[in-house]
Amino acid sequence: MASRKPTKETDMKTLLQINSSLFGNGGQSSQLADRFVAQWKARNPRGIVIVRDLARDPVPHLTAERFGAFLAKPEERTVEQQAVIRYSDALIDELKRADVIVLGLPMYNFGVPSALKAYFDHVARAGETFRYTANGPVGLLTGKEAHVFATRGGAYAGTARDSQTPFVREFLNFVGIERVQFVYAEKLAMGDEHKQQALAAAHARIDGHAADFAAEPLAA
Ligand SMILES: Cc1cc2nc3c(=O)[nH]c(=O)nc-3n(C[C@H](O)[C@H](O)[C@H](O)COP(=O)(O)O)c2cc1C
Repeated sequence: MASRKPTKETDMKTLLQINSSLFGNGGQSSQLADRFVAQWKARNPRGIVIVRDLARDPVPHLTAERFGAFLAKPEERTVEQQAVIRYSDALIDELKRADVIVLGLPMYNFGVPSALKAYFDHVARAGETFRYTANGPVGLLTGKEAHVFATRGGAYAGTARDSQTPFVREFLNFVGIERVQFVYAEKLAMGDEHKQQALAAAHARIDGHAADFAAEPLAA
């Protein structure tokens, strides 16, 4: 009888789920991300899932003091700067460990949640997640893929009014994460019919293509 030999590739992957909804687990974006993660976990039973909930554990705003810690030479860091670096390093270590990054992305006031921006500000670190070269910046978080679950009250995807998608894609690309796909649930505040349709379409994408990171674009 042929035995099924588990491969490291399918068994030992790590997924980092970053939720940025104000409403934590209850957010529509978190719930779409959860649906994807549950299916990923079923396909990767030995896979490790790390959840970072930015509503539960908010990342502080970047300040001149905190940014100063990023710039200070390691041997010259003050005690306070060392603490800032330890905190930033821990966030970056989670990203480095992850093979798959899942991002719950609500739209708030035409942009990304400020909680997510604060997180990005703490993981964009020269020498850690990117470096500058004579040819421009090079991202250091290579070999990863990201799945973004974007929820909106209105409809923006595929239009110039969508400020989130280019920004998030640009940021992830900048730190070296080049395989990025978006699944949208829009018109969530435009009546129950639109909402149910949008969620059903997002679920279908998650249950089908998105789960396998299909080559086809998933823009709505
Ligand atoms: C403070 C706040 C601001 C919002 N601003 C927008 C907006 O600018 N554009 C939009 O389409 N929807 C907006 N919405 C609606 C949310 O995008 C929508 O409810 C989405 O489901 C939020 O995702 P979440 O449930 O994961 O938090 C806003 C909601 C809140 C709570």
